[in-house]
Amino acid sequence: MFNNRIRIKDLLATDKVNYSATVMGWVRTFRNNQFIALNDGSTINNIQIVATLGEFDEALLKRLTTGACIKATGEVIPSLGKGQKVELKATSIEILGDSDAETFPMQPKKHSLEFLRENAHMRFRTNTFGSVFRVRHTLAFAVHHFFNDKGFLYLHTPIITASDAEGAGEMFKVTTLPLDGTAPTNEDGSINFKEDFFGRSTNLTVSGQLEGELAAMAFSDIYTFGPTFRAENSNTTRHLAEFWMIEPEMAFYDLEDNANLAEEFIKYIIRYAMDNNADDLEFLNQRLADEEKQKPQTERSEMGLLEKLNFVVDNDFERLTYTEAIDILKNSNHNKKKKFQYLIEDWGTDLQSEHERYLVEKHFKKPVILTDYPKEIKSFYMRQNDDGKTVAAMDILAPGIGEIVGGSQREERLDKLTQRMKEMHVPADELWWYLDTRKFGACPHAGFGLGFERLVQFVTGMGNIRDVIPFPRYPKSAEF
Ligand code: 4AD
Ligand code: MG
Repeated sequence: MFNNRIRIKDLLATDKVNYSATVMGWVRTFRNNQFIALNDGSTINNIQIVATLGEFDEALLKRLTTGACIKATGEVIPSLGKGQKVELKATSIEILGDSDAETFPMQPKKHSLEFLRENAHMRFRTNTFGSVFRVRHTLAFAVHHFFNDKGFLYLHTPIITASDAEGAGEMFKVTTLPLDGTAPTNEDGSINFKEDFFGRSTNLTVSGQLEGELAAMAFSDIYTFGPTFRAENSNTTRHLAEFWMIEPEMAFYDLEDNANLAEEFIKYIIRYAMDNNADDLEFLNQRLADEEKQKPQTERSEMGLLEKLNFVVDNDFERLTYTEAIDILKNSNHNKKKKFQYLIEDWGTDLQSEHERYLVEKHFKKPVILTDYPKEIKSFYMRQNDDGKTVAAMDILAPGIGEIVGGSQREERLDKLTQRMKEMHVPADELWWYLDTRKFGACPHAGFGLGFERLVQFVTGMGNIRDVIPFPRYPKSAEF
């Protein structure tokens, strides 16, 4: 048996000493020809391995370079070093994989996040990305935990679809037709997708919601959690072309039930990460504090990361309507002094992220649930309110992030839905199966989508969404 190792996390978790143990991992540093700091990714903390002077071959010691992979066996002894209870006094050290000190990209020094993004294949081995991806894992696990405990069914919705769930036309085409100009065409010269793999035009999904609604009309409560794709040319710190979304869909829920669930859900998963990733969040808290120190005083956030997370789980989200928000924004000094790039003048304009951030960061200083948006700026499936102007939509806005959740009560009335689809040029014939749920046992229902990476950003304090997904996809970038 090769793998009889103990994980470094488990080894460091106790102060048990005087037993033999084997660890495996990657060398972070090797000091004084004697002290190895080894990390195996199970925790941010390294185990110190002592290679007593004179007991090991010079040739072997030379190969203990940053990045090298080793197996070390020895006696677990009390540590005199600060910050650790135990260390390993090595009796044998085996090199599993050499790492050339000259060319290894992750030098034991501070690298810029941009540099690490270009070296995303190796950035897992840094403290920052180790912590970010351990926290991401925990949050993903907590998502399933939360919904499973509540009796929701995890529904796998398709990645290749023929529909545009958001009606925004931001889709990546999926085709096996040749791209060299020899694809079959119709009489009018357009591509004949009847000849394509699926016998029709298809794309990568932008949302599992429509399929989720079908299942909610049978299981009552479902959720999806999978990758979604948007071909929007957004080069921002909040947008990815491939991102993960959690979409619960619930029968017998109205907009208020929906908002209650979303708030409970967000608080639950944040608390879960705080309970299970304390070391990582402590590190990220410090990382952010150091980063903030580089900024001018006026741009610094008022709260540290942990303080902010505690605040969010302990306080109610602010709830108000779009109309109330427009009033606040319109009358704000910010608007009057023309500090917004897009000034708020009329009811009906879509909120830009600067407006969202003003509301959460300056005005309320807490997460905000905005409801009842003008129907013109929202999707066709949202339930129409009696005023004829707004729909039962909700967006949740988070400090530092902006929109983190988008959702709504759904239009369950067939006539209202088909009329809205017509107005918005959403092809009803292609969505016949969706409309069937409104014909056979329709009921009030609601759901939302939470952008998983934006949540991970919020919890880890990372400023750029490209740094919270292992291999980000964005315009002009699909490396790795
Ligand atoms: O607001 P969106 O577009 O809503 C939907 O897709 C609905 N079908 C959800 C539902 O009701 N089931 O997207 C939902 C969330 C946003 O609030 C945002 O957090 C995230 O998905 N999101 C993105 N995250 C990263 N990159 C992008 N390009 C994103 N677009 C949306
Ligand atoms: Mg949205």
